[in-house]
Amino acid sequence: MLPVHLDRTRAEPLPAQLAATVRRLVTDGTLTTGDRLPSSRALAADLGVARAVVEQAYDQLLAEAWVETRRGSGTFVASGEALPAPAPPPRPAARGPQHIRLDAGTPWIDPRHVAGWRRAWREVSATRPPRGYPDPRGLAELRDALAERLARTRGLTVEPDEVLVTAGSTDGLRQLLGALGPGGVLVEDPGYRAAVETVRAAGRAVVDHPALAPVTGLAGCAAAYVTPAHQHPLGRVMPAADRLALLAAARSAGAVVVEDDYDSEFRYDVAPVPALAALDQSRVAYLGTASKSVSPSLRLGWLVAPPEFHELLVRRRTITHDTPPWPAQRALLTLLRDGWADKVVRTARRVYADRAPRVAAAMAPHAELAGPLAGMYSTWLTDPASATAARAAARAAGFDLPLLADYCRTARRTGVVLGFGGVTDAELDRALSAITGGLAGTPARSPAGVPAGPSDQ
Ligand SMILES: Cc1ncc(COP(=O)(O)O)c(C=O)c1O
Repeated sequence: MLPVHLDRTRAEPLPAQLAATVRRLVTDGTLTTGDRLPSSRALAADLGVARAVVEQAYDQLLAEAWVETRRGSGTFVASGEALPAPAPPPRPAARGPQHIRLDAGTPWIDPRHVAGWRRAWREVSATRPPRGYPDPRGLAELRDALAERLARTRGLTVEPDEVLVTAGSTDGLRQLLGALGPGGVLVEDPGYRAAVETVRAAGRAVVDHPALAPVTGLAGCAAAYVTPAHQHPLGRVMPAADRLALLAAARSAGAVVVEDDYDSEFRYDVAPVPALAALDQSRVAYLGTASKSVSPSLRLGWLVAPPEFHELLVRRRTITHDTPPWPAQRALLTLLRDGWADKVVRTARRVYADRAPRVAAAMAPHAELAGPLAGMYSTWLTDPASATAARAAARAAGFDLPLLADYCRTARRTGVVLGFGGVTDAELDRALSAITGGLAGTPARSPAGVPAGPSDQ
């Protein structure tokens, strides 16, 4: 008889328990191809259950092709290849104490804006979703609002139909990479780690390029991914001459420039630097994100691809339905239309304008500022030991402080990347006191403030 034990105290119905047992006996090799199963009558009697229980279990196994019936002679195992014993499932590592992240990507969202957020989601819940799959380019009214915003804030004149709504910058980059011709992708070094991973995941080579050096050649590259408004993470604005050189290199190599315009709204000393795409929309793919002006957790962004790739992207999206969920798009529409996102940007800009000099005043005696003060983080150059000491001191005080070295691939720059958007004022004060304490405990940085190791310029 089959080694079966049915447990009447379990919620799982008896036929399901029996079918699961037979599946397991096949996969562990107890039963092999051609083995005959007991008749339903005999097994039911053996197990002390109604015959219908066994019949239901056999019917299910038959439907799944684990067993087959041969007329007049019974039920047999159809496929008896024993599976290798499954590896024990990897358990996620136990979580250590939670540290407050001082990362470059978390924006300040004023809690006073909660009413507008609620209104947006109320509107979502009161609106019927489209009957079928949504427009593959994204919600039409949202693309109208985005085109208006791009013209107003980024000097970029685009038709709403040229805008593709994405699930954030990295999603836009991923989709674009799928449409480009063969070739590697030049990526700034140090640079945005999500872009590096996205390029690698697309099966393309990452071509390291010193972050502050002009790009003068793109032979063999399908694209160059850059952050011209605010180099991530060194903070510099790409000079006009470098912009022109980059476009010339892209034109002569037939490559695309991917402009990641992730936080350009957050200049507090001067007006935002115009988008690189405004110089040549036929060559530049523009990536924007709602991660800074609304929330990174919304997972929304937009892509304006050069016309030669736009149709292909739309055709793909029509087939794959690779568009962000309608409710999130609909909520963003309200947030843009009601001026909520503009309000968030204005208040956050004031907060950053206040915090950035505070950070600078605390850090300047110990480290060298890598770029102009802008956005929601600043990067500080130190020798490697000071960077590690600053990180350790931050950790001991409950903060997670990213190291500049973590953004480097072949470049050798050391220091820390200090995000000040995702903390309260009191937390920032505590973090700064811990970090500067850590820095003060290490030998003074090199006189020029330039870390040991080759420069990446
Ligand atoms: C350089 C850069 N690009 C883009 C983003 C935003 O990416 P996403 O739109 O995928 O959230 C960030 C966020 O930190 C960033 O630092």
